[in-house]
Amino acid sequence: MASHSAVLGVGGGIAAYKAAELARQLMERGFAVNVVMTAAAQEFVRPLTFAALTGRKVVTEMFGNGGADEVLASSVEHIRVAEENQILVIAPATADLLARFAHGLANDFLTTLYLAFEGPVVLAPAMNSAMWNHPATQANLEILRQRGHHILPPDAGPLACGTTGPGRLPEPARIAEFALRVLTQRHDLDGETILITAGPTREPLDPVRFISNRSSGKMGYAIAEAAAQRGARAVLVSGPVQLEPPAGVELVRVQTAREMRDAVLKHLAESSIIVKTAAVADYHVANVPSQKVKKTAMRLSLELDPTPDILAEVGLEIERRASGQLLIGFAAETENVVAEARRKLQAKKCDMVVANDVSADGTGFESDENEVVLALRTGEVTPLARASKRVLADQILDQALKLRLALHKSR
Ligand code: PMT
Repeated sequence: MASHSAVLGVGGGIAAYKAAELARQLMERGFAVNVVMTAAAQEFVRPLTFAALTGRKVVTEMFGNGGADEVLASSVEHIRVAEENQILVIAPATADLLARFAHGLANDFLTTLYLAFEGPVVLAPAMNSAMWNHPATQANLEILRQRGHHILPPDAGPLACGTTGPGRLPEPARIAEFALRVLTQRHDLDGETILITAGPTREPLDPVRFISNRSSGKMGYAIAEAAAQRGARAVLVSGPVQLEPPAGVELVRVQTAREMRDAVLKHLAESSIIVKTAAVADYHVANVPSQKVKKTAMRLSLELDPTPDILAEVGLEIERRASGQLLIGFAAETENVVAEARRKLQAKKCDMVVANDVSADGTGFESDENEVVLALRTGEVTPLARASKRVLADQILDQALKLRLALHKSR
């Protein structure tokens, strides 16, 4: 017996064939799957494929083609389907479907159902890279993101049109897993604003060169995704990285430490929890030349000034305001991990420092996994076993909420 129910809306793109495997993957995860196909989708895959896989009727048109009774029954079918299903998953979400959803058009069964549906919506776009990058598509995505829909960005790679770039439908198992997570997510951060910094900063040496570091942004983006999925407004201040922003997250792009500081201070007052995952450059070039530095045979020396210590500044500011905001710093260490975490906890007036050994194999910078130790203001030290950054993100937020409760009680 299925424990969840989903509408799988199939759009008219070449990736429609992958939706058949997605139906199977959703069923494997306990979903009863009701497929709705647009007219264009039926040009790529036959409804029979989905009917055979799901054992259910596939909706292919708004008004049926029978007599008056059938027309009457099918004219309210979209309301029944909307009420009886817990989640709406659209894959592939074509540029056309995104546009129609964004602007509230209701000119076929799927778009009408979308307007009647009140539950969570997962969109898995797939299209040609130029269409994906087009400002119209990006503007429509922004509208849908702001509406709280969960967007799983397309993968990059070779596309059916012969070009290479972003636009491939992610693997069906990933979409199914994402949908399951959206449906079963917790809402313990409803109403909170969580400010997260991620990625490296870039400090210019001249107009074409910069100093930076290996941070990929994965750890910070995972925390932003977890916060958004648990109901928070997640504001993600990000240095330059190659990642798509997670669904439902407000992205503020910055380059330098000074830009990151300004963005953090701008959003500080409205944030209940601040998580500083970013690997901020500690130095910037004192006087950046306005022209490209020419190559010579001479030794070149750089004069560097310290960048603002954003974490320390926020720690002071929060202490001064006695606002009850929770400040979480990160510490990238290569030795004495716990001692360094404790030192940074005190020095930067944090409530928690998440320390990772960045010299270990397969964790720390760039990797998908991490292994961390939490140093808490209560004096406790809590190690979290090696896991994916996304799993750790939830564990770090769990610990933050526990700590906030403990600090609140002790006041
Ligand atoms: O991005 P990934 O590839 O996923 O890698 C994740 C990570 C290794 C970058 C992450 O887990 C991590 O350790 N982040 C902190 C990196 C760092 O700069 O550590 P730090 O020990 O130098 O700084 C301590 C804290 O002060 C950090 O919270 C940092 O954001 C903050 N800081 C540092 C310097 C500065 N000028 N301003 C700051 O706010």
